[in-house]
Amino acid sequence: MKYESQRIAYWFFATSMLLLSLQIVYGFIMGFAHLGYDGLHDVIPFHVARATHTNLLVVWLLCGFMGAAYYIVPEEVGRELANVKLAWVQLLSLVVVGVSAIIGFHFQWWEGRKFLEIPRPLDWLVVVNVLAFIGNLAVTMWRAPRMTTTSCVLFFGLLMAALLYLPGMIPTDHQTLDSYWRWWVVHLWVEGVWELIMGGILAYLLIKLTGVDRELIEKWLYVIVGLTFLSGILGTGHHSYYIGTPRYWLWIGGVFSALEPLAFLGMAIYAISMARRGGRSHPNRNALAWTIGCSIMSFVGAGFLGFAHTLPQVNLYTHGTLVTAMHGHMAFWGAYAMLVLAIIAYAMPQLTGRRLHDTPLSAFAFWTSNIGMVAMTIAFGVAGVSQVYLERKVGLDFLAVQEEIQVHFLGVVLAACVLALGIGAYVVQFIRYGKPVGALVPDTETGDARGVADAAAPGLAK
Ligand code: HEM
Ligand code: HEM
Ligand SMILES: [Fe+2]
Repeated sequence: MKYESQRIAYWFFATSMLLLSLQIVYGFIMGFAHLGYDGLHDVIPFHVARATHTNLLVVWLLCGFMGAAYYIVPEEVGRELANVKLAWVQLLSLVVVGVSAIIGFHFQWWEGRKFLEIPRPLDWLVVVNVLAFIGNLAVTMWRAPRMTTTSCVLFFGLLMAALLYLPGMIPTDHQTLDSYWRWWVVHLWVEGVWELIMGGILAYLLIKLTGVDRELIEKWLYVIVGLTFLSGILGTGHHSYYIGTPRYWLWIGGVFSALEPLAFLGMAIYAISMARRGGRSHPNRNALAWTIGCSIMSFVGAGFLGFAHTLPQVNLYTHGTLVTAMHGHMAFWGAYAMLVLAIIAYAMPQLTGRRLHDTPLSAFAFWTSNIGMVAMTIAFGVAGVSQVYLERKVGLDFLAVQEEIQVHFLGVVLAACVLALGIGAYVVQFIRYGKPVGALVPDTETGDARGVADAAAPGLAK
């Protein structure tokens, strides 16, 4: 860690860990409800648990991205963050907005639009919050002595993510238009600008962890950005197939979204080849595992499982079923959850000076959570395919089908236990690192973060 202001990242990461843990709790509430154990129904009905689960996901990922940006940008551009106090205000207000939204959901204060349930007045606060964040980064970069491609791609991704929140706020009482604008946000986030954030953070991690030349890594970053835009923008059409929009979207959406896996495949090949090329062996093998794992699992979850239901002929049957949940879990996990867990795994030894990476606990967290998520995805997939067949081929009633597929949720819940065990281990590891310290030996290039804390607490150093 070279700059004092990078320490703020720790608090964003800590918030992220807290919200992730809460997200898992709501996941279990839904898993048990699907199994027929819906004892909490009167307090937390399924739709409330679902909105809370998915919104917590988005907020912990955003917190992770913001922490990542506050950690990466000062180092990349070579100066302290412009305004650390503003970053604090921004974190606290984000938490207040998030908590208010979640409490609101439990009292039926919500918009009822999947992923964009946050009530309108709170939406405005989100906009102000994110503008403060973007402004802080912009001023930091503007006043900096240098600019790097990695920091520009990361900044541009974050800026576009902020702007693309706005279409979801266009007022309309037309169902088709509402759906149409909702997808501008949801799709263009995860299959567009968030991929830039992913590209930026992955590039930073690869530069640090593999020792390969920045020029080479950043050259490939342009290719990834190009592929993302080429396929992802018009790929939005795969959500317009049967919602009341013109028929030409069947072709446009089908063709361009079928190309989207290329961007994820490119990202995986790029990360693996850079890791193989890097002659230097960085001590933080755990962060490298999360980094490479992210690139591979995002290809599986987003690229492969996304392709599985993206053609209009298939989506006609699978739309809105548990096939979507299968893909949603693995895609979010691989691309964005693992990305945040990768940057945290990299930054923590640097922030705290404690070299707890590559302990048995960190390896356990990596493998257990990934095995759990793969198993959960398979269980959702089996439930989803059965649902599609019974509901859309045989023509059984929705609720009759839910009863038929109940048994598969035993698999979902068991797999979720494994996943939760892995994430629990990650959170325990995070807590064991302790708080960030200042005045570290700025030796990130060799990965050696030995600093004041190590010297003060040698028992913790490993
Ligand atoms: C990291 C990237 C991705 C993430 C996080 C992601 C996540 C999701 C989520 C959560 C949904 C459900 C959204 C909702 O119903 O509101 C969804 C839907 C969908 N995704 Fe992805 N996705 C990603 C990439 C892709 C890619 C690359 C493809 C295609 C190749 C794809 C194809 C689809 C399709 C066709 C649907 C609509 C499913 C339906 O009709 O119910 N996704 N995705
Ligand atoms: C204990 C672990 C978890 C359990 C038991 C769980 C369970 C569930 C259930 C039952 C649903 C609702 C499916 C339905 O509509 O019927 C759901 C939705 C969702 N969960 Fe999880 N989940 C867990 C962890 C996670 C994690 C770690 C992520 C992200 C990385 C995640 C992402 C999502 C997403 C994106 C949706 C919405 C999918 C869609 O739009 O169809 N979940 N989850
Ligand atoms: Fe999409």
